[in-house]
Amino acid sequence: MSAVTEIRHVGYAVPDLEAERAFYRDKWGLREVAATDGLVYFAAAGSSEPSVVRLRQAADRRLDVIELATASRADVDALHVRVNAAGCRGIFAPRELSGPGGGYGFRFFSPDGLPFGISCDVKQDQSRVLDALESIPARISHVVLHSPNHKAAVQFFVDVLGFRVSDWLGDFMCFLRCNDWHHRIAILPGPPCLNHVAYDMASLDAMMRGVARLRGEGIDVQWGPGRHKAGNNTFSYFVTPNGFAVEYTAELERVDEANWQPTVHKPEPSVMDLWGIGTGGPHAMPHPAPDAGLFQPAEV
Ligand SMILES: [Fe+2]
Repeated sequence: MSAVTEIRHVGYAVPDLEAERAFYRDKWGLREVAATDGLVYFAAAGSSEPSVVRLRQAADRRLDVIELATASRADVDALHVRVNAAGCRGIFAPRELSGPGGGYGFRFFSPDGLPFGISCDVKQDQSRVLDALESIPARISHVVLHSPNHKAAVQFFVDVLGFRVSDWLGDFMCFLRCNDWHHRIAILPGPPCLNHVAYDMASLDAMMRGVARLRGEGIDVQWGPGRHKAGNNTFSYFVTPNGFAVEYTAELERVDEANWQPTVHKPEPSVMDLWGIGTGGPHAMPHPAPDAGLFQPAEV
C-alpha cells in the first residue's frame, strides 16, 4: 500500500518573524538556507531535507503546512486518490513543486482542518553524522497534534496515510510510525492544533548540552529533562518566541516492523517521565487552542 514514509518539514506563520528567525538560527541550532518571497527556510545538519522549518510573517500565528514524504509519483497519486476518497478538502492536486528541492506533491486539509502536504522527488542536500556531543538538532523527530476526535484522527493516519500504531498511552494518546522509528506523529485529544515539533539530538549527552546551551541564552526548559516510557525517548520542551512548543529528544526507540506489538501504557507520572527529576510539566506548555488557519490555505 502506498504510504507516508517520513516528515520533511513544518511551515509556520508568525506575527514576529524576526524573533522566530533569530530563535531557530541563533539558538535552536538550525541553519538558515534561503529567504525568498517572504519565506525563510532552515535546514538541520543531520537531515538531507533541503529544509525542516519554513517561516512566514502573518497577523495570526498559525500552522502553514506539515510536509510528509512518500516514495514515488505513483505513491503521491495513490495517496491523493485516498485522501480525496476520505472526503478531505484539497488545497492543490499533485503538481511540480517550487520550494527548495522542488519535487512532486499535493496538499490537503486533514479532517480536522490542519494543512498537510505529501511529496516525492524532493532533491536531497548534503547531511552529516553529528558528533555525539554536538548540541544542535540532527533532524525532525516527530510532530504531536491535538484532535477533537482523536480516535478518528488515528484511524485517518492509519487507513488513509499508511501509518502504523506503535503504542497508546491509556486511550488518549496514540503514537504512530511511518518507518522504523517508534513515532513520527502522535495524537492527543483537544482542539485541532499543533502540540509540539520534536528534533532528534545525536545522543542523550547532546540533548543535555542543548538544554544547558539554551539556558545560557536565557531560554529555559518548560518540561524536562526526562524520559517518556512510550518510545523510550528523552525529552526537553521549550517554547519559541511566537509561542510554539518545540522539543529536543534523543534515543527514540526503533521498531522491528515484523514483530512489534503495540502496548497500552498506563497513564501515570512515572510513565510520562521515567526519571521524575525534571522541572515544569505539561501544565507549563502552551495551552492548546484551535489553530488560526483551519481550512484556510496558506497560499504558499
Ligand atoms: Fe515529543
